[in-house]
Amino acid sequence: MRIAVYGASGFTGRLTAAEALGRGMTPVLVGRDEERLRKAAVEAGAADAEVRVAGLDTPAALADAFGDCDAVVNCAGPFTSWGEPVIRAAIAARRHYVDTTGEQRYINRVLDTMGGAAERAGVAVVPGMADDGGPGDLIAHLTAERVSPIEELLIADMRPPGGSASRGTARTMAAVFADGPLDYVDGSWHPAGSAARTSLAVPGSEEEVPVTGFALPGVATVPRHVTARRVRSVIREDVAAMFRALTSDVVDRIPETPDEDARRASRWLMVARADDGRGHHAQGWVTGPDGYRLTAVIAVEGARRLATGGEQAGALTPAQAFDPADFLGFLGSYEVTWQVTGPAA
Ligand SMILES: NC(=O)c1ccc[n+]([C@@H]2O[C@H](COP(=O)([O-])OP(=O)(O)OC[C@H]3O[C@@H](n4cnc5c(N)ncnc54)[C@H](OP(=O)(O)O)[C@@H]3O)[C@@H](O)[C@H]2O)c1
Repeated sequence: MRIAVYGASGFTGRLTAAEALGRGMTPVLVGRDEERLRKAAVEAGAADAEVRVAGLDTPAALADAFGDCDAVVNCAGPFTSWGEPVIRAAIAARRHYVDTTGEQRYINRVLDTMGGAAERAGVAVVPGMADDGGPGDLIAHLTAERVSPIEELLIADMRPPGGSASRGTARTMAAVFADGPLDYVDGSWHPAGSAARTSLAVPGSEEEVPVTGFALPGVATVPRHVTARRVRSVIREDVAAMFRALTSDVVDRIPETPDEDARRASRWLMVARADDGRGHHAQGWVTGPDGYRLTAVIAVEGARRLATGGEQAGALTPAQAFDPADFLGFLGSYEVTWQVTGPAA
């Protein structure tokens, strides 16, 4: 199986190429700079891999680069700036597409606008196959099955501060923070109000930590497969404070690649809570190690499933494209664990 990795010269792209190779697939490294792509191929342990140069302003070259691959994984962000030409090229080449974005408004726009073209081409476009948007959407679906009707579904990224981030992630998070979060209320998306929950228990402990509204992918994805009056998202206040401090000067001083030891030691944790507004709720959580490695695993497995199973076409959320419990079960071999409990009063 040939997997085209766009943005393969970046940190996430390199890990994705390495993951595809490790799974017995043939990564094709695509991007705008041949020298950086060749260097990335060596660093990914794929020195012999094919490198193809195609910039975002050359749609025909992009579609050509994808044409003989089974699926495209796009790792070039911020996706708000660079994502859509790559999606259009994948659709033109009739190839399934996933990406590693966590950008809420970009995901919303892709899901709102790309479905028709993807359906006509017979391919699936699944944005947000990363350690937050993928597991977050899947666990929210499983949690929501326990409660009906749902007054509010809350998605929370409860990873603690400390896991180190790449410059690319910091640049993207600064932009996401500046845009502000959306809430989904009564059938449509609006700039988030201020009444979101202000603290949340960390699963497995009695500890409640302060949380604040933040633009997570789940608000864009979950309402497309779960019926809930309101969907909101929060992160820990101590993590939000770090994002708030990300001016462009600070971003430029962050190393291109995160500290290896801190990355490997870090854990991510996504929580979903469905409330019926009458005192009952269900809660689900999913956690795993090394968010960047797992993002590569999630994106490559998503691409593989689309290329081998692929009856589905259109712009889809992770839970629409893949069986939630089966996909999370697959991640179990990468030390990912998850649980759904409730309803509880
Ligand atoms: N949601 C999540 O949990 C999650 C997890 C991992 C990554 N991500 C996202 O994935 C993206 C990449 O992160 P990263 O750490 O890998 O960043 P990075 O190391 O800075 O890599 C960025 C990649 O995008 C390419 N690129 C940038 N501008 C481009 C342009 N104008 N035309 C073509 N290619 C362009 C770069 O190519 P050059 O090498 O030629 O500059 C590079 O390959 C970020 O948006 C990040 O937020 C999200």
